[in-house]
Amino acid sequence: MTLHPRYARITGTGSYLPPRHVTNHALAAELAERGIETSHEWIVERTGIHARHFADPGVNSSDLGLQACQQALQAAGLQAQDIDLIIVATSTPDMVFPSTAAILQHKLGITNGCPVFDVQAVCSGFVYALTVADAMIRAGTARRALVVGAEVFSRILNFEDRTTCVLFGDGAGAVVLEASDEPGILASDLHADGSHVGILCVPGHVSGGKVLGSPLLTMDGQAVFKLAVGVLEKAARATLDKAGLQEQDIDWLVPHQANIRIMQSTARKLRLPMEKVIVTVQDHGNTSAASIPLALDHGVRSGQVQKGQTVLLEGVGGGFTWGAVLLKM
Ligand code: UT7
Repeated sequence: MTLHPRYARITGTGSYLPPRHVTNHALAAELAERGIETSHEWIVERTGIHARHFADPGVNSSDLGLQACQQALQAAGLQAQDIDLIIVATSTPDMVFPSTAAILQHKLGITNGCPVFDVQAVCSGFVYALTVADAMIRAGTARRALVVGAEVFSRILNFEDRTTCVLFGDGAGAVVLEASDEPGILASDLHADGSHVGILCVPGHVSGGKVLGSPLLTMDGQAVFKLAVGVLEKAARATLDKAGLQEQDIDWLVPHQANIRIMQSTARKLRLPMEKVIVTVQDHGNTSAASIPLALDHGVRSGQVQKGQTVLLEGVGGGFTWGAVLLKM
């Protein structure tokens, strides 16, 4: 009889930001040339964003993911061939198909035939992907997974729409998740409400050799904001209940980095001081599925998030989707 591992644990993290760093001032100047008015002050006051990174033409989500995976593998002390599952969370895949995970597997030089697939849950994608990988590891289907969030949102931004184009950036984050008898992922809580599809979407689709509908992101920011602040506290409390822990047991909150005001509201509701929240939105903007693993890796590499600590990851986004994962590092 095979005994399944009790836990799946993060043993390495990595991240990558493309080198083109675009400040609010630079973006505002570029938009002004098109007759679109915005300012550093407006963007900072409403979102907390100061800058974002944009990938150069021809650089795709798999390229950003590759760099993040290589760092995560190094941190875990593993070779690419040790990996037996890859899940990529992305809404900006390299192609319609095959999956970005398949392209990434090839770029990593993995030839062991391991299963690979993408998860599409927009900005909640990473917590969805981590939950799936955790379940597969605990079921004995895999032992060492790469779970990746990788995005090139700059490709789907409408630079004529100041209400959205100032918010997003490109980047990737990755973790190695391994079977373990030591506590790792403690609980997850995932949700979706498809009745809100229209509030944050890229409505276009490929049909008959053409893109039908707009291939650019559209968002009702206020509607997303209101839904987000309502659901994040509930998801956090659900994971704490499932794990038998209290809010004061959380060492670090690593939320999706969309807007500093949403993060502050969640922290306040959970009675966590902002000193316990990893915040990267000022430098990264909203990188959708990449934002949580990017922030987690930043927390680990800055020496803030340490082994044995309790970390709450939270995502919210298009779908409408939301969820949380509570884990021990
Ligand atoms: O990652 C998925 C999850 N996404 C989110 O969590 C995003 C959630 N939403 C938000 O973060 C916020 O709603 C936004 C940052 C998108 C917008 O902030 P807001 O405080 O809700 O602003 P608003 O939409 O109410 O706009 C306020 C004003 C408007 O002008 P009027 O109508 O008051 O005259 C906008 O036209 O700000 C104007 N505005 C801008 N002004 C300068 C909108 N975008 C800009 C801009 N620069 N870029």
